Amino acid sequence: VAVIMDGNGRWAVRRRRPRSIGHRVGGRAVRRLVECAVRLEIDVLTLYAFSSDNWARPAAEVRALMRLFARYLATEIPRCLENGVRVNVIGRRDRLAPGLVKDIERAEAVTAGGARLLLRLAVDYSARQAIVAAARRFPRRGPDDPAAFASVLNRVVHSPRAVPPVDLLIRTGGEQRLSDFLLWECAYAELVFTPRLWPDFDENDLTRALGEYRRRERRFGRVPVPARSLET
Ligand code: FPP
Repeated sequence: VAVIMDGNGRWAVRRRRPRSIGHRVGGRAVRRLVECAVRLEIDVLTLYAFSSDNWARPAAEVRALMRLFARYLATEIPRCLENGVRVNVIGRRDRLAPGLVKDIERAEAVTAGGARLLLRLAVDYSARQAIVAAARRFPRRGPDDPAAFASVLNRVVHSPRAVPPVDLLIRTGGEQRLSDFLLWECAYAELVFTPRLWPDFDENDLTRALGEYRRRERRFGRVPVPARSLET
């Protein structure tokens, strides 16, 4: 499951509060969602926390977000250890503050044994940049098959292990676009869009999205084969 967590700013503006408050309350929604994901036995949860294009936001908002990530990594480790959550930050690291990179490395090392849920936070992430970086690792004739490319793509974004393609992508906040998130990995993802603003997203919303996913017929380009037709 992957989530584009959108709507923090609007949530705050509607309450006449600064946007950073929306992000802070959005952080609580992250905590809530991670706990639900563990309970619902989701294997991999990838959250879009900061896109490479988000650097263009006002410096104060960027600073507030970076502080929030650092605090999340520091404070959530005990809970992650308790719940078997392995934390991983995907994206570029060369533009992050060295202190934050240390926090990321520490959180990843300490939680590396977590086997119930792989929680991937996408920070300074751009799917197109990642695809270009992975392609550069095949200078001559490219990979032989999509799986070989996918494993290099995982490596360039610092993903610790092979991660299956996304089955369900949820976007909150009412917009219906991918915004440069997991473009390769979402090749056959089911997309669920909800008007709910991210800070309000809760277990009911997740359950509803999973219900919608279960009702979808996934064909992967094939035609549906009714079970009975196998006998006739
Ligand atoms: C998009 O909402 C949200 C972001 C750019 C940041 C996402 C960050 C969090 C949910 C904070 C906590 C994250 C972690 C991992 C602790 P927006 O600001 O674009 O909202 P708007 O579209 O209403 O302006």
